[in-house]
Amino acid sequence: MERSYLYPNENNMTSINPYVKSKKAFSLLLRYSQQLDFKNSLILAEEMVRLFQLALKRKRDLKILEPGIGYGRIALPLAITGHPYNFAIYGFDNSRYMIEELERRIENLPLQMKEKIQGKLVYQILDAEGKWPYPEQFFDVIILSYILHYLSDWRIFLDKCDFHSKECIAFLREIFPFNFWMSGEFPQIPFPEDQKILHNFWLHYYELKSKLEKNHKKPEISPLNYQNAIDYLLSSKGYKVSCHKINLPLERRIKFSEILQWIKYGAFTPLRTGLNQPQRLALYKEMKEWVIKENVSIIKDEPIVIKRGEFELCLCVKS
Ligand SMILES: C[S@@+](CC[C@H](N)C(=O)[O-])C[C@H]1O[C@@H](n2cnc3c(N)ncnc32)[C@H](O)[C@@H]1O
Repeated sequence: MERSYLYPNENNMTSINPYVKSKKAFSLLLRYSQQLDFKNSLILAEEMVRLFQLALKRKRDLKILEPGIGYGRIALPLAITGHPYNFAIYGFDNSRYMIEELERRIENLPLQMKEKIQGKLVYQILDAEGKWPYPEQFFDVIILSYILHYLSDWRIFLDKCDFHSKECIAFLREIFPFNFWMSGEFPQIPFPEDQKILHNFWLHYYELKSKLEKNHKKPEISPLNYQNAIDYLLSSKGYKVSCHKINLPLERRIKFSEILQWIKYGAFTPLRTGLNQPQRLALYKEMKEWVIKENVSIIKDEPIVIKRGEFELCLCVKS
């Protein structure tokens, strides 16, 4: 794989992306995004390939872009699975740590898989909020997976996706009972006794947070809720939407010590939380005290294991 890109100068970065902040913030975040193992990611990719082929009524030669490709959790298995159909997968990310991790993962693939993606997975460092180097309608599909909430203007971003995609913009997300930690939107579902503590932790976190951020406006898009984005494509651009569930054995292992680090290092984007560095630190301290006060067994720091979960793929197709 070629390494022909330049690293952006991080000091000049205007991005609010926590993955570009520091190696430390990056590693903390990376660990949390690992609940999908490689075997299951291939199953997910197979289902995505099938759904794209069905929606686009075309089996072969699809060009697919994933902005915010990360370490290739979605795009890498997609390139492998799409190989028999001559798919080309493109991706970019403005975190050089992520792109390095992607390269590391490509390097570690079995030779047979590495050969399959040769020339079929094209990636680079690029800011989604800058200019994109692709022609109009260059891609058949643009996949959006956990990127919208990092952007300062998701409408401008969607306009760009609309400009560069010929047929389809696809939204992918994980539906998980404990997803509320990401958005502060708490569902009315009973939690297993051993997991209530996690629920209470985040309830307390969001309570404290709302006291700190007096003038903060709730973001229009959260990592889990992109309904506004779908409505935008439906109403102003005339897309047709269909959503599909893909059930996979997902699992998250959550440790309080890591969540605390996460709060401290600002793994949440400022846009999403509205918090600045001193406020985050204050929150970190208070939550740490809460953890210590609440339950001694937490201090042993055994992970809380949460199973259950599925993916949802919403396909917005130009009509
Ligand atoms: C939560 S990760 C999701 C990665 C991947 N899409 C997935 O689902 O596994 C978000 C990714 O978006 C990238 N990102 C955030 N803001 C970006 C921007 N302005 N331009 C390019 N990439 C960005 C981050 O670096 C990170 O890799």
